[in-house]
Amino acid sequence: MKKYFHADEWSIIEEGLHPEDNRIYESAMSLGNGHMGMRGNFEESYSGDSHQGTYIAGVYYPDKTRVGWWKNGYPEYFAKVLNATNFIGIDIMIDDEKIDLAKTKIKYFKRVVNMKKGYLERIFTIIDDKYGELIVNAKRFLSIVDTEVAAISYSITPVNHDVKISFIPYLDGNISNEDSNYSEKFWTEVDRAINEYKGNLTMKTKKLDFHVSTSMKYSVLEDNNSINGTIDIIDQEKFVGNKITLTGKKGRTVTLNKYIAVTTNRDYDKSEIIKISNERVTYAYNKGFEELFIEHVDAWDKRWEASDIVIEGDTEAQQGIRFNIFHLNQTYTGDDPRLNIGPKGFTGEKYGGSTYWDTEAYCLPFYLSTANEDISKNLLIYRYNHLEKAKENAKKLGLNGALYPMVTMNGEECHNEWEITFEEIHRNAAISYAIYNFVRYTGDSNYLAEYGFEVLVEISRFWTSRVNYNSYKDKYMILGVTGPNEYDNNVNNNWYTNTMASWNLEYTLEVIAYLKKEHMLRYTELENKLNLTEDELSKWQDIINKMYYPYIESINVFEQQDGYMDKEQILVKDLPKADLPLNQNWSWDRILRSCFIKQADVLQGLYFLNDMYDLETKKRNFDFYEPRTVHESSLSPCVYSIIASEIGYEDKAYELYLRTARLDLDNYNNDTEDGLHITSMAGTWMSIVHGFGGMRIKDNTLCLNPFIPKAWDEFSFKILFRGNLLKVKVSSEKVFIKLEKGDYLSILLYDKKYTICDELIIDIN
Ligand code: BGC
Repeated sequence: MKKYFHADEWSIIEEGLHPEDNRIYESAMSLGNGHMGMRGNFEESYSGDSHQGTYIAGVYYPDKTRVGWWKNGYPEYFAKVLNATNFIGIDIMIDDEKIDLAKTKIKYFKRVVNMKKGYLERIFTIIDDKYGELIVNAKRFLSIVDTEVAAISYSITPVNHDVKISFIPYLDGNISNEDSNYSEKFWTEVDRAINEYKGNLTMKTKKLDFHVSTSMKYSVLEDNNSINGTIDIIDQEKFVGNKITLTGKKGRTVTLNKYIAVTTNRDYDKSEIIKISNERVTYAYNKGFEELFIEHVDAWDKRWEASDIVIEGDTEAQQGIRFNIFHLNQTYTGDDPRLNIGPKGFTGEKYGGSTYWDTEAYCLPFYLSTANEDISKNLLIYRYNHLEKAKENAKKLGLNGALYPMVTMNGEECHNEWEITFEEIHRNAAISYAIYNFVRYTGDSNYLAEYGFEVLVEISRFWTSRVNYNSYKDKYMILGVTGPNEYDNNVNNNWYTNTMASWNLEYTLEVIAYLKKEHMLRYTELENKLNLTEDELSKWQDIINKMYYPYIESINVFEQQDGYMDKEQILVKDLPKADLPLNQNWSWDRILRSCFIKQADVLQGLYFLNDMYDLETKKRNFDFYEPRTVHESSLSPCVYSIIASEIGYEDKAYELYLRTARLDLDNYNNDTEDGLHITSMAGTWMSIVHGFGGMRIKDNTLCLNPFIPKAWDEFSFKILFRGNLLKVKVSSEKVFIKLEKGDYLSILLYDKKYTICDELIIDIN
């Protein structure tokens, strides 16, 4: 396998410039702070292959749908996360010649993301026959303290001679999305202002009226003292900049510090955003690069304190997991319930940056365990706030209750492939499951009375209208669906969907019983608001009692869907290597007819409803389905790895873990160039904490069942659980648990109860 990055515990390092793989490095070197993010592009011009990308959270575009054959019910648009004003731009001219790393001769090049401190740095040496060597150092970060602020420090040191240097700091709004359906430009200019040392560019979207105001201000220093140069103003449509020209003296370092502030009308009235972005940039400028940076690093220290996983004895595994945690923390900070987690976060455009079931099924556990309750609660409230839209969506398809979209920005469905949009209805259950998971983890049952119950009822109503009663078999069935395994469409009775639908109805009934007992007044209020009747509840119970589940009797395994066993049964190991990945080598028709499974389907159910199935059942299903699974969704190996850990298949668990942990760093699926798999990164975290750590919550108790993969000497992780911060360290001999915050906590370790006040050390053997 080709190695792209040096193994390092805290850094992602590119040594030497790799023009042919530049997009891969750009994706992996992305930075974000929850409010905005960008790919690891260069500040100066680059004429080689590159995908320049800057994204602002929550700013999207409803790009007109493009399909071959329009079907009733399709959404009018596919939401695109918007590539916005490029604010990192600093062109460099040496002796009036533009630096372009695709053409300029360089002697050394290093691009590094420091994950501990949250910055990107490039160091390279330009060489030229005329003026000799110039050392360049460019460092930038997006503040996680002042999330509207970014700062860049760009330094040049002439080694051999004095040279004429021009810096051209600019803001460029002439930007388009690579994935635009009709090659349309989405932005128009609202306002621009440019002066010496500062400028502003305010753009708005052609639809939805998002306004984004970007301000810049900069200073120029020679060996840390202010220095003046001659300044030319650049003022063009959608583009503002300065050209500052000075003499770079031999052996002295000239530095341009560029400060940026980005505000949007999502947060302020649009009449205010220019003023506020100018104020924010002045504030950043007055603070200065170093002070902003120190605050930023302190805040990163705190984030790592709560969420780090330390692996001893395997640098690549350490780098892999930190890379995942770093990006999860960069993508979602949880302070705005209108935001969510796109599969590619701020690192690319594919998948539109929109919300998928990935959030509830994969991301929620990470935020539950590593951040305060409010953060994960906001992920749930996001869906609560979209309830009316989900009801409209169900109605549009002729169904009752709420059908949450497969892909959304604002609650409206914006995915347009019928087998996914109309059929992949299992996503609804993930939303109910997230409510259950949140309440079970945090113990905050009030959430049910406040918000959760309404969502549960409307989703239950959806299932009630979507099942059909087969009077011949006296069973309820769910026909015409796509399960999580997207390599099978329009199937009947997908085991996972039927199981989750029935579980969903059962949980809603349980919540009713709880509300009646603990929140009677609120329950009566909700009962009236939702027009709940006894008949309706009896219907739910009837569906629970008579749900149909396909089963393979001969081997005692849940059948993925009706007819799965009619397919020719071949194992992945017997396929020619050249056929994989199937989605790049086989026709869609062939994939659909085959028994090969894209991602955890039955196994997803065994993971979610873990307590309902014994180890033998899990083992039988794992043994049957894993050899048939091609893991062509990044979301797949982590779930299999967790179950493998649980059933004692330690080597297999580790092998599957490796597939998820370095997926992007090793470009495993050959698609890192499109952006990173942010949501599957949460799955990687789960495969350590839920898999190797064996963490579960049972009856309000935290349970751990850890083992250490053979390749590691020791690993440790942190979890926040109901106000307690716990550090769990595992080696082949001992489990060490420290209560870092909280008075005491009772846990189950290897099924035995312990109450921890300070530390607990247990010998494994
Ligand atoms: C997976 C879906 C997932 C989507 C976004 C697809 O490849 O099959 O389950 O929601 O990617 O990550």
